[in-house]
Amino acid sequence: MLPYKSAIPIAEALRRGEGKATVRGWVYRKRTLKEKVFLLLRDATGVIQLVVPRAKFPEAESLNLESSLVATGVLVREPRAPGGVELHVESIDWVYVGEPYPINEDAAVSDSEYLLDVRHLWLRSRKMQAILKIRHTVFGAIHDYFRRRGFYEVHPPMFITAAVEGGATLFKVEYFDRTVYLTQSSQFYLEALIYSLEKVYTVAPSFRAEPSRTRRHLTEFWHAEMEIAWAHMDDAAKVGEEVIGHVVERVLDERQDELKLLGRKVEALERAKPPFHWLSYDEAIEVLRKKGFALSWGDDIGADEERALTLEFDKPIILHGFPEKLKAFYHRNNPQRPEVTLSFDVLLPEGYGEVIGGGERIYDAKELVEKIIRFGLNPEDYQWYIDLRRYGSVPHAGFGLGVDRLVMWIAGADHIRDVVPFPRDIRRTRP
Ligand code: 4AD
Repeated sequence: MLPYKSAIPIAEALRRGEGKATVRGWVYRKRTLKEKVFLLLRDATGVIQLVVPRAKFPEAESLNLESSLVATGVLVREPRAPGGVELHVESIDWVYVGEPYPINEDAAVSDSEYLLDVRHLWLRSRKMQAILKIRHTVFGAIHDYFRRRGFYEVHPPMFITAAVEGGATLFKVEYFDRTVYLTQSSQFYLEALIYSLEKVYTVAPSFRAEPSRTRRHLTEFWHAEMEIAWAHMDDAAKVGEEVIGHVVERVLDERQDELKLLGRKVEALERAKPPFHWLSYDEAIEVLRKKGFALSWGDDIGADEERALTLEFDKPIILHGFPEKLKAFYHRNNPQRPEVTLSFDVLLPEGYGEVIGGGERIYDAKELVEKIIRFGLNPEDYQWYIDLRRYGSVPHAGFGLGVDRLVMWIAGADHIRDVVPFPRDIRRTRP
């Protein structure tokens, strides 16, 4: 049998703490002390210290980091070793002795551009490993939440022909003899699907030709979107609170080690339980004016304003009732107060800001056509979307959640790029 087939996960070796064991992995750190070489070996589950006798394995001393190997020996409890256990090595299979590794994890942390250039390698770092595990838990928890609540998972197309979120950020794609676009949001397709399945969701990439590089914008991001028939703004906002609450609870349950490795303080996460803090746009303007922002009713709440709001409250905020002109054409206007829409955003605390955008949709065909024209758009471009309103239309609402932004906040990252394995922005399309 190939020696690596009999290896046990490093986490399992640490749990056992005694007896003979074989582990396999990559050399993560190396230190020589007198007659011994200490190799820290990592796999997907953890890190273990290998104690390698220099006399028997002279090649260990000059071994390059990230070389792959299989080691067999005896597990010994040692409080000074990471994980409290080390492996006293008796035999080694040098699977692949690597070239000098181009990343020094300690020195490189400050040079974020370099780490993006070598992202294909940097994914091996303990930090990226922790983030990728948190991402895994977040995506799993989103699917679990929707499925347990009776939502059907659906699969809208990525090639589309009409803008959902405005023409300015559409990516064009050559499509045989035509031009089509990459989707900015699956919303319109989810709106079609509620007439079949009533409660639907999807988790898929969305694309935006975002011209600016900010800490929270990518050109390709993961979008968790849902739509519910027979529902209003409040119903959608409550689902938003619940799904975030559920995801955070799951991460706190399963990913304490990773949060600790990232140095994430968890108090703000622990407070993110529904109900969130509900704040109307009108109230937000008042709060911001008191804080010294020169804002009038109708002004946009930009990134700085969002940040200031989130620092006022210790829970995520449901910011609702935006003026018509601040939100896309499909938002239903409040029949009691037509100048505002039945729309909401969810803002994450600690300065992170918007993670969800959603609301109630116009479900009357005539009202929709009028608003499309009022917004200077062409109803021809939205023919099938308008058609949905012609046959048994019902009140409905939904939202889109930026999953990378949610992971960014949960992980306490400074930049959205830090939580995506292969981030895409205006300058970066490789690796
Ligand atoms: O607020 P947005 O633009 O809303 C929509 O797309 C709706 N059609 C969704 C719906 O109702 N089904 O985007 C929703 C969320 C934002 O709150 C943000 O979290 C994320 O998507 N998002 C981005 N994340 C990363 N990079 C970008 N460029 C993003 N643009 C939006």
